[in-house]
Order: sequence, then C-alpha cells, then structure tokens
Amino acid sequence: MKIAVFAGDGIGPEVTREAVRVLEALELDGLELVHGDVGGAAWRKHGHPLPAETLAIARDSDAILFGAVGDFECDRLERHLRPEQAILGLRKELGLFANLRPATMFPGMEHFSALRPEIARAIDVLIVRELNGDVYFGEKGIRTLDNGERQGWDMMSYTESEVRRIAHVGFRAAMGRKRKLCSVDKANVLETSQVWRDTVIEVAREYPEVELTHMYVDNAAMQMVKSPGQFDVIVTGNLFGDILSDQASMCVGSIGLLASAALSDGSMGLYEPIHGSAPDIAGQDKANPMATILSAAMLLRHSLGLEAPAARIEAAVAKALGDGVLGGDLGGTAGTTAIGDAVLARL
Ligand code: IPM
Ligand code: MG
Repeated sequence: MKIAVFAGDGIGPEVTREAVRVLEALELDGLELVHGDVGGAAWRKHGHPLPAETLAIARDSDAILFGAVGDFECDRLERHLRPEQAILGLRKELGLFANLRPATMFPGMEHFSALRPEIARAIDVLIVRELNGDVYFGEKGIRTLDNGERQGWDMMSYTESEVRRIAHVGFRAAMGRKRKLCSVDKANVLETSQVWRDTVIEVAREYPEVELTHMYVDNAAMQMVKSPGQFDVIVTGNLFGDILSDQASMCVGSIGLLASAALSDGSMGLYEPIHGSAPDIAGQDKANPMATILSAAMLLRHSLGLEAPAARIEAAVAKALGDGVLGGDLGGTAGTTAIGDAVLARL
C-alpha cells in the first residue's frame, strides 16, 4: 500500500504533517509513504509545479494525499507554470474525474454554521463534482481585438460520455444514501448544460429507485442556504461544483473541516481538504488540519478498502470537536499541532 504525499504550498505542509502523524499512528501493515513536490514549492525547486518525478511517484502509488497549492508569488507566472496546474494536472493525467465532496454537520457544531442552527442542523449533502472537463480544461486564451482591447475567453463544453460517467457516480452514490439526486446546471442559458441535462435524464432510466430533480445553479446556491437539508446527492459540472462546495462548507461551519476525494474508474484516488493554501496564515501553527486528517480517512476507505481505521479517524476528529478542540477557523485557540495531538489522543 503505497501512498504518495504531496504537501504543496502555504498551510499544505503543516496540515499534511498532522494527517501523516495520524496515518502512522494507526500502524497499518505494509503502508509506505512517498513524498513529492507540487505547486509553487515544486516550481521553485524544479521549475515546474508538477515535475515529472512527482507524476511518476503518483502513477506508482495506490493513492495520493494532497495538501494545498497556491502561492501569491506565482500569480503572475505563465498559466502553465502556476501552482494550481499541479492539482489540475494530476486530476487530468490520472483520470480522476469524480470528485466527492461531502458536507455533513458534526453533532453539536450547529452554532458554528454561517446559517441559523435550526437550518444548519439538517445539512448532509454529498456534492459529486465532475473534475476532468468543463471550462476548466477547454481551450482558452487572451486575444487583442481590432480596437486594441484585450479579450479573455474560455471554452466551456461537455460531451455526452463525460456527463454519462459522472452521472453514474452520482446515481450510485444516491443509491447508497437517501436515493435523491439533484442535477445542477444552467440549461436555461448554456448549451453545455442542455447536453448535461438531457444526458442525466437518459442515465436516470437505469436507476428507477432514485428520485432525480434538476436545479439551475443560481437557484441551487439560494436553496443551499435556505434549506440545505433538502439535498442528498448533488451532481454537477466542474465550475458549478467548485463554487457550490465552498458554499456548502460554510453551511457546515468551516472550510477547515471538509475533506474530499477525487476518484478514477479504478481504485486510484487523490484526497485533499477542500480549502486552499491560505498563505496569510502559513507557518504560524494556525491552520486547522482536520480537513486533511479526514481526507486521510477517506483515502483509507475509498482507495485501500480499510473501513475500520477510516471510521476510527473520523470518530477521533468528531470527539475532539465535541470536546471543544477548536481551531481559529471555529473561533477557538487550538493550533495545528495541538489539534493533531488531540486527534491522536482520541484515536
Ligand atoms: C478546488 C480548488 C481548485 C479548483 C483550484 C486550486 C484549482 O479551488 O479544489 O476546489 O478550482 O478546482
Ligand atoms: Mg475550490
């Protein structure tokens, strides 16, 4: 069982270190961790955000634990050299097309939500976000028009087969939950979304037990704060899923609590917190490592089939939260290492 550990930039190394401590404490037989450089850190060392060595480590592993990438100093680099290309490149190169982003309320944590507690309490949604297509990977450019004005453009597209494979992930996930799937698009304006919607409806015939609904993305954003409890599984494209998952995190209470998995057709997966590199608090022992620790739990469950240790980690995090071990993101004072210690103590 080989796990690639790519810590990345900003708070990435700190939060990943705590997740690694938790994995090591489980003393799992045959677990091997291999570290690699990604993001701005890799660009400084190797001149590229996703060096060939790193990609080789990834391909040779059973799963990847990923911290975060993003670095202000790299924001003016040519796009293919920016830190974000590390995560986008890994998703594409490894065919990690299915992003699972669960947002579930931790018992007793309702008052940390950006929503009123009685509304927040009910949130238990799984966002299934497509990760290999959409405007993220279409042709793009900046051109100068005849009048001398610059024009930026990005091509949005989805093929039927791309929609079909993520729709199946959404329906299968719904089958294992409350059997409700909401497909989010913008079919009232975008042709990309029309193909999306038609295809999801077609796939639905194979899942008669799942109740399928459709929602425009603007309405979905509104419903997510009005009554998040109405959602079971949401399936959506790359861009809409990016935005809605950040929003869902604040309905739970903190972006520092939410883990995610990016899966391929096989068992290969990349696991990462949904938060970014937060360079403003990097290196100050302020970041909450819980989202990364919970990502390690998802890794054990989805890529290695180790349900029991995954559940142990999740229970330890929930216990720590219940005991009032709160990071700055939740208005508490516990630092990164202290939170790691607290989770370890409850394993
Ligand atoms: C995410 C992030 C990434 C994305 C960035 C870092 C490229 O926001 O994983 O949600 O947009 O997918
Ligand atoms: Mg995002």
